[in-house]
This record gives sequence, C-alpha cells and structure tokens, in this order.
Amino acid sequence: MQTVSDVIHLRSQIRHWKQQGLTIAFVPTMGNLHLGHFSLVEKAKSLADKVVVSIFVNPMQFGQNEDLDKYPRTLEQDKKGLIDLETDLLFTPTVDVIYPHGLAEQSYVDVPGVSEGHCGGDRPGHFRGVATVVTKLFNLVQPDFACFGEKDFQQLQVITTMVNDLSIPVEIVPVATKREQSGLAMSSRNGYLSETQKQTAQAIYASLQQAAQSLKQQSLTIESITEQALEQLESTGLIPEYFNICNKRTLKLACDDDKSLVILAAAKLGSVRLIDNLQVELG
Ligand code: PAF
Repeated sequence: MQTVSDVIHLRSQIRHWKQQGLTIAFVPTMGNLHLGHFSLVEKAKSLADKVVVSIFVNPMQFGQNEDLDKYPRTLEQDKKGLIDLETDLLFTPTVDVIYPHGLAEQSYVDVPGVSEGHCGGDRPGHFRGVATVVTKLFNLVQPDFACFGEKDFQQLQVITTMVNDLSIPVEIVPVATKREQSGLAMSSRNGYLSETQKQTAQAIYASLQQAAQSLKQQSLTIESITEQALEQLESTGLIPEYFNICNKRTLKLACDDDKSLVILAAAKLGSVRLIDNLQVELG
C-alpha cells in the first residue's frame, strides 16, 4: 500500500491509473478504523480496480465544544488493517494540505434541506464541514465510486444530494451498518465506553427495533411511538437528543402517508454522543 500525504503525489498516481483506464473506488474516513470501515473497504474492492482510503480528521466538521483534539488517532494500527485488505493507496493529508489558507478563508459547500434538523440541528455547521471536505476529497481522488456507511444516514443523504445537485461524477454506494452481536452499531466513539456503558448503549438499537415494529403494526401514532422510545431510552440512563421518524428521502418528519421511512436517533451516554438509525418500509 502506498501512503501519500501531499496533493502532487496523489494527483500523479491518480492520473497514472486513469491513463491506464483503471477505475477507482474511494473510502473517506477520519481513521480509528473498525470493522465498519473495513466493510466499506471490502465493498470498494468489489467495485473497482483500485481502492483509495483517506484518513483525515476534518476540523471543519467539529463544533467548538466537540472532541476534535480528543478524537482517537491510531494511524499505525489503521495502516495494518488497510494493508491486510490490500488497499492500494492511503491518503493522509495534514490540515494545512486540505485548508492551506485556514478555515476562515475556505470556500464551502452547503446542502440545504437534508442537512437541517437531527444531527444538523444539534451540531450547527457539521454538515457544511462534511460536504466541503468530501467535495475537496472527491476533486483530489476523482473516484468512480465512493462508499459511505448507512450508520451515518443523514451524512449519506447529504452527500448523495450534493453529488446529484452539483452533478459530481461519482457513484455513491451505501453500505449497511456493522453491528456488535448485541446490536450496538460499530463506531469509533464506542471506544470511549466502558463495558457497562456498552450494555446500556444497546438500548438505542432496541428502541429503534421496537419503534419499527410498532410502525409496522400500525396500532400507535407516530407521536406516541416517538414518546415511548424517548421514555425507553431515558429509563436506561441514556440522554436522548432526538428520536425522529422521518421520510427516508427528505428526512423531514414522517406524515401518515409516508411508506419509506427511516428512524434517526441520537443519545448521550456520559459525554459520548451515539447515533443510530433503522430503515422501515411499510407495505
Ligand atoms: O464519516 C466520516 O468519517 C466523515 O464524516 C467523513 C465522511 C470522512 C468526512 O470527514
């Protein structure tokens, strides 16, 4: 695996592959890789001739009180995992490479609609940061395919919308959430949890499943399903930030006629913020 940190070497390798007519699949990450990320790399391998992974902890998507400095950086361990998966190129730019003039001077990409509410409401500027860095990475790597986990469902919708709205020539490939046996969605943030907290955190997926079942049974209103879920989460010691039953495409709160739904949930356990979601198709 080649590791490249600067734009000149990255562009030269990409140009070389393109001249040979090879296709590229891309997995952007912030590192601290786990099985969820590795499933994205495996998907990428199945799609294209060459796989590029980036590791960049993007300051633009962190809020002032968020965990940018604390964000786990485990480059050597990440590299081992990527080599085992036969990744072709790892791009590890510094902040100066991505934002040479600083964040205040940086052009940005805003995606209205799907960026609003849910994580966008709780983390102002977060999706601007994600959309901007992903646009920049797409322009550098010029992939044919880019793989994103469904775990970050709103992020996936923001990027899909951005690519469609701006006619960016890349196919966005969603990859199903990897879960622990307990159902807990794999996340870099799980590393901050004790074993006991991990058990408590299982309640998030359990509440999503319960809500999905209630939606399918059509015996309760969306409001009462939401209320029950919030109570269920609180009773375990989690502090729910939101539990929203949404139209899967627009991410607006669902109305009774909507059949293609996604339930988006975020909750805090101590200082750790966890998110998860579940898609529900009503017959
Ligand atoms: O999902 C992530 O890890 C990040 O939001 C991404 C897509 C790599 C952009 O920094």
